[in-house]
Amino acid sequence: MVWNQKEASRIAEQLESRTAEEVLRWGVERFSPKIAFSSSFGAEDVVLIDLLSRIKPRVTIFTLDTGRLPEETYEVMDRIRERYGVEIASTFPQREAVERLEREKGFYSFRQSVENRKECCAIRKVEPLNRALAGLEAWITGLRREQALTRTRLEKVEADLGHGGIAKLNPLADWTTEQVWDHIRKNNVPYNKLHDLGFPSIGCSPCTRAVRPGEELRAGRWWWELPENKECGLHVNPKEKEEFEKNG
Ligand code: ADX
Ligand code: SF4
Repeated sequence: MVWNQKEASRIAEQLESRTAEEVLRWGVERFSPKIAFSSSFGAEDVVLIDLLSRIKPRVTIFTLDTGRLPEETYEVMDRIRERYGVEIASTFPQREAVERLEREKGFYSFRQSVENRKECCAIRKVEPLNRALAGLEAWITGLRREQALTRTRLEKVEADLGHGGIAKLNPLADWTTEQVWDHIRKNNVPYNKLHDLGFPSIGCSPCTRAVRPGEELRAGRWWWELPENKECGLHVNPKEKEEFEKNG
């Protein structure tokens, strides 16, 4: 099933006042079993796993294991597996592509230019995501409006034109950071220990640092690049990117 922007906007309007759990229930009812959760196991993602654990049938959880994830991310994945009894499907990059990249450009090519950084993200994240989404009608993410200027117009459901027009559910779109942490604490949800060390947003180890007080949530991601470049290609909304570049 392919969604168009118009139908998605109509449903997004209806879902805007619904809670995250209601959005998830709607998605599972409508798309199961052709729906999956793409999880990086950051604070938002563990909240979603907690909410999904209350909903039947179970939704497949997959993660893009880039080969460069921090140790703490593997640790929280294991704690989540045990706590909720869920399977986590790791999706790896194509072996040949990583071998060629490292042979030709070394192990830190992403620091040399935005182009090289996008190449690494394309190999380690974007292509594996395309494979993970093949055959699905919907996917779930932990994106929030508050996270970045490029995400302020995020809807709770969108037509993901970058992935063949399948539905993209962002149940936490309107949540604040405080709401996320309230949920984690109240429900004793296992979370990535890097969050306690000043990392609000966690990606690959060499491309993530802690932020200083007052810095933006994603200031520690690809910190050597300009804000408008800070999307790895998993979540590209062409319209918003264009507006952001125009208006800053
Ligand atoms: S990113 O595009 O900059 O990497 P971010 O880290 O903010 O994204 O995460 C936003 C959402 O993208 C997560 O909540 C999750 O749904 C998805 N995501 C990001 N990284 C991964 C990953 N390695 N594996 C699976 N999903 C991911
Ligand atoms: Fe490569 Fe860094 Fe992108 Fe990870 S975040 S895929 S290491 S450029």
